[in-house]
Order: sequence, then structure tokens, then C-alpha cells
Amino acid sequence: MNREKQAIADNPQRVLIFDTTLRDGEQSPGATMSHAEKLEIAELLDEMGVDIIEAGFPIASEGDFAAVSEIAQRSKNSTICGLARANYKDIDRCWEAVKHAASPRIHTFIGTSPLHRAIPNLTMDEMAERIHDTVTHARNLCENVQWSPMDATRTEWDYLRRVVEIAIKAGATTINIPDTVGYTAPNESADLIRRLLAEVDGASDVIFATHCHNDLGMATANALAAVEGGARQIECTINGLGERAGNTALEEVVMAMKVRHDIIPYSTGIDSTKIMHISRRVATVAGFPVQFNKAIVGKNAFAHESGIHQDGMLKNAETFEIMRPADVGLKETNIVMGKHSGRAALRSKLKDLGYELADNQLQDIFVRFKALADRKKEVYDEDIEALVQAQGDAE
Ligand code: KIV
Ligand code: ZN
Repeated sequence: MNREKQAIADNPQRVLIFDTTLRDGEQSPGATMSHAEKLEIAELLDEMGVDIIEAGFPIASEGDFAAVSEIAQRSKNSTICGLARANYKDIDRCWEAVKHAASPRIHTFIGTSPLHRAIPNLTMDEMAERIHDTVTHARNLCENVQWSPMDATRTEWDYLRRVVEIAIKAGATTINIPDTVGYTAPNESADLIRRLLAEVDGASDVIFATHCHNDLGMATANALAAVEGGARQIECTINGLGERAGNTALEEVVMAMKVRHDIIPYSTGIDSTKIMHISRRVATVAGFPVQFNKAIVGKNAFAHESGIHQDGMLKNAETFEIMRPADVGLKETNIVMGKHSGRAALRSKLKDLGYELADNQLQDIFVRFKALADRKKEVYDEDIEALVQAQGDAE
């Protein structure tokens, strides 16, 4: 039994985290990372408890091959996986790159929907035979083989059921169900996995994975729904990096399972306090800044400007925060001083800066602070210090 199957046998509510930042994430136009950057990100993923790292697509370039090989050699805890199309040359090259890992995996795929079948111009039977032969070949090289029917969510049910069964019989240990174009919706995502588990011969011998794209903004919901349907591996990326609108964001699914464990009762091996650091490193090395209001890792995810919110936060952080900043590796909540801030927040900010003011002094500074905030988007600590100095000069 491979280590992933063992983890689920030990705890049926355990969900494996398969991170593909270095493969699907790097496929975003403009997100190319250097060799050294890939090694750094792989090390951070391994340290944070990612179960499987998809480190690249070894046949794609010499650079990808070198990165996957070195990540495999350096891996400590994570399984290292490489991607290969459904041909022997890709699979052999992938194996050459991953084979030095303590726990290697080959991930091979082929597009099974009508649109994707038309590209290699294979009949349904020819494709089925290709799947049988390539999965068998991969399994002869490696004990841990993942197979994906690309565009599964737009593949005819009968054909999907047939090819998944063929891949299992040929030795696949994980069956990944990609929503390649972000087309599915949560109820459909759950039903599809449920139906595969119920109707495919041999389904209970393998782990089902979900791989969602975010074209309709539903990647996180679809991935969690698939888990509800029986999937036990989520494929995701840091910051949701990925082609077009991106992939399921690792930080979102992990924190959803943690914060709403009461209704999403699954767990992962991720140390969530490492999320913020890796998010920032991926944003920097990929050159993809995180949008301010991005869930969990956006600059504003733990920031408050309105007076009512700031007042509530100062009294009890749970009033407007459902998780603690420390849970994701942030030092503290960010109380942003701006035109919506109230007296309580200004008093608290002044106290942090070392000023204890009498009520009349606070009132005077508050009036001038509001006037300044009307002219500026954000009032920084230095601006507030300057207001205090100006008051001292005037007295
Ligand atoms: O989105 C997709 O279908 C993929 C496959 C290669 C798994 O990334
Ligand atoms: Zn993908």
C-alpha cells in the first residue's frame, strides 16, 4: 500500500493535498519560475505538509526535467510527481525525472471529451486502447500512477465510466477527475465522483482526486463538493495560480476545512501557519501579485477600515474575523486608518505609537485626522505622528 492510501486507510476523513503550483500554476502565461525559485517553492511546500507535489512536466523542456529531477532528489516528506501525456516517450522521461524521489509518482493524462478526442483524431476504441497501454507502461515503471481523463466534466458518462475502469484495471492507483475548463458546479461535481465510486468496477481500490479550474469562480466550491462525493485528493495551487482564471486555491480549501470543520468534516496534513509566507513567495517569484481582496491571503483579508468594524475588532476580534491571523501565519490584524475609521481606532493607534492623549487633545487630532483622511486613501503612522507633533507645536 503506498503512503497516500495508508494515510486514508488510517483516517477516512483525511484529504490529500496535491499541489500543482510548479506545473499547472507555472503554465499561466508569464508565470515562469527559475530553477532556483522552483527548488525554493518545492521546499516550502514539502515543509508545509503537502502530500504530493507535481513538480513539472519533464518532457516539456530540459529546464523542467532538471527541476523535477532535483526536486525529487531533495524531497523529504512529499511524494514527487511529474506529468506525462499518453505516450511512452513522455512517460519514460517523467520516470527518469521522478525516480530518485523517496516516493515518486507518474501522472499521465489524455483528453477524453468529444472536443479533446478530435485533436489526436482517435476513435473511442483506439483511445481506450491507448489508455490501457500507457497506464500499464507507467505502472511497470512506478508503483504510484495517477491517471487523468482531461476535460472529464464534458466527457460522455458512458465513455468516462469505461475509460476510468480501463485505467484502474491497467494499474492506476489514483484517478483524477479534471474540470479542465472550470465548467462544472458543486452539485454536479459531487454527483460525478459519487457515481464513479458507485458504478466503476474497482473504484474502491483507488483514490479519486478532484482538479478544478476557476473559470466561473467555483473551483473551491467544486473541489469541496467533490470531497463530499468521495474524492480524497484535492489538486490545487498556491494563490490559485493557474491557466486563465486559475486553479483551486490551496489556502482556501485548507482553511475552509479547518474553519468550518463542523460542516466540512475533513482534515489535511497542512500546517496552515505557513500559508502566508509561501503565498508571498509564490506571488513574487511568479510575478503574479495577489489581488487585495483575495480570500485568506489578500492584503485586505485581515484588514479593517470602517469605524464600526474597527471598534468591534478592538473589543473582540471574533466580531469581524472568522479565523485568527496567526492561523495563516500573519502577525496581526491590520487596522487601516482611513476616512471610515472612528475615534476608538484612532485612540488605539495613538496608544500603539506611544501617545496617551487627553480627551480634548484626542478630539482635536480626530478632526484633523478626518480632514486628512478625506484627502488621502490611507493615513499612515507617520501622518498620525505628524498630526500629534503639529498639535504639540500649536500648544
Ligand atoms: O486541467 C487539466 O485537465 C489538467 C490535466 C493535465 C490534469 O491540468
Ligand atoms: Zn489543470
